Amino acid sequence: MKSSILTWTASVFFSLAAAVPQQGKFERRCNRLAQTFSPDSKTTVLLSEYLPAGANVTNPDNHPSCQSKPFTITYVDMCRLRLKVATSSTSGLEMEAWMPVDWSKKRYLVLGNGGLGGCIAYPDMAYTASLGFATIAHNNGHLGDTAEPMLNNPGVVEDYAYRAIKTATKVGKKAVRHFYQTALKNSYYMGCSSGGRQGLKAAQDFPEEFDGIIAGAPANDINNLFSIVGHYYKVMGKPGDATHLNGDQWAAMRNMILSQCDSLDGAADGVIEEPRSCNPRFEALMCATGQTWASHGCLTSKQVGAVRKFFEPYYGTDGNLLYPRFDPGAEVISDVYDGQPPYFTDQWFKYAVKNDPNWDFDANFSLQEVMALNALDPFGVSTWKDLKKLKRTGHKLLTYHGLQDGLISSENSYRYYEYVSRSMGLTSSQLDQFYRYFPISGQSHCWGGAGSWYIGATSQFARVRGIPGIPSDDSVLMTMVKWVEQGVAPERLRARNIDLQTGTVKGMKDHCKWPKKNVYLGGDFNAKESWGCQ
Ligand SMILES: *[C@@H]1O[C@H](CO)[C@@H](O)[C@H](O)[C@H]1NC(C)=O
Ligand SMILES: *[C@@H]1O[C@H](CO)[C@@H](O)[C@H](O)[C@H]1NC(C)=O
Repeated sequence: MKSSILTWTASVFFSLAAAVPQQGKFERRCNRLAQTFSPDSKTTVLLSEYLPAGANVTNPDNHPSCQSKPFTITYVDMCRLRLKVATSSTSGLEMEAWMPVDWSKKRYLVLGNGGLGGCIAYPDMAYTASLGFATIAHNNGHLGDTAEPMLNNPGVVEDYAYRAIKTATKVGKKAVRHFYQTALKNSYYMGCSSGGRQGLKAAQDFPEEFDGIIAGAPANDINNLFSIVGHYYKVMGKPGDATHLNGDQWAAMRNMILSQCDSLDGAADGVIEEPRSCNPRFEALMCATGQTWASHGCLTSKQVGAVRKFFEPYYGTDGNLLYPRFDPGAEVISDVYDGQPPYFTDQWFKYAVKNDPNWDFDANFSLQEVMALNALDPFGVSTWKDLKKLKRTGHKLLTYHGLQDGLISSENSYRYYEYVSRSMGLTSSQLDQFYRYFPISGQSHCWGGAGSWYIGATSQFARVRGIPGIPSDDSVLMTMVKWVEQGVAPERLRARNIDLQTGTVKGMKDHCKWPKKNVYLGGDFNAKESWGCQ
């Protein structure tokens, strides 16, 4: 591990040193981009500026709903370009290209979005630019983590479904080629959640754009994903309802589930290696006669009944599965119990589907509406197709999914994998040629978690910045680079158990590629040697 850090650091140092004489030229070319780059009438340059390592980039246009910090610190010298691109007469996107001084490997990378995603992924741009990727990120066709701009504007929904990522990718390639005056060698995509769905969209419909696609915790089948969160809320009721659980009661339920399932894998380490094999007895938390939550920390039979229903898969009026069940061992999101209609569900129905700000979740959300939405599937946003096109290109797709994801059930990623397998008639070893899926036990939604969750993916690096012992050359991104550029296909995915509270690396695990599973061999839970694949 130590020698790999040294090698990486040394190679960055020497390549930067070699680039120094060119610095002035690079800087001038960058600052002039607003005059020199004009690919078509739809594209406008908003800004071009040279940024040295350590620059403080304020993000004035990031909408308050975007949650990320209002500023980002760069790691390496680079050129920043901001563009506006029209996608139709009523819609358009904003995008940035962060192009590092050291571009010796000529790698191009596009980043995705999250949630209802109109937020540029600045922290990830800083990270991947530092790894030498000319990095593109965009606002997905609207500003903010909100669907409001979709109201009566189908162009914005179309951007969200597929067009923004496709357009930004193409324009970004032109910008990078123009700036460096040379063709790129390899093109990559990385995203998680909505960004995972965008990655699958590219893999399904325009795989020619990327040699390697990393799709984390993908939000595909997104209409039914929004619907099941609405369903959760309906099942559990509001504060004061007999079925309702508050946050503390959910935490108690999660502890009870862990107590029943943590040891199924032989390791009582707070991580359920395979939540799909966990079928808890929720009734174990039910009060005996005369007991209460206040006196005994137990739940009523009505509450337990609601929890049992919460954990069932979600079926349509035709009896077909709409969405698989919640991961046992994951923490439920507060939308389930905070008494407000679930934000994403409410926004999606109001603005993207019904075009009616008065659509009322409590009055109007129903299984009939869910079925109608499923049939409508605006602009193919569900992103549920096989990978025939990807296979033909010979390009690669790597998906991963945290197995304690409280927002998007990891079952959905297994389900998609098996769907692709069946619909293309390919066994897992045939799929291995172009599509590999890594379940990540102990990882929450995209980042964090009780186990070895850190893989150097989307939304992760900025949170661990400064913690010692985290090299970047075994990240999922560089793992994909090795697959694409050297033909070294990953069998396992290196992950670190990072405690964000104390800022320490507690352990390491190499997660197995589905359909193999992590198995405990004995010894220190936190040592990667204690785990194998079977
Ligand atoms: C970056 O700039 C912002 C806005 O001026 C400021 O609030 C922030 O403290 C700065 N961050 C650092 C690390 O200098
Ligand atoms: C929502 O429910 C209300 C009350 O039942 C009804 O009057 C209204 O038409 C519904 N709106 C939609 C868009 O279905």
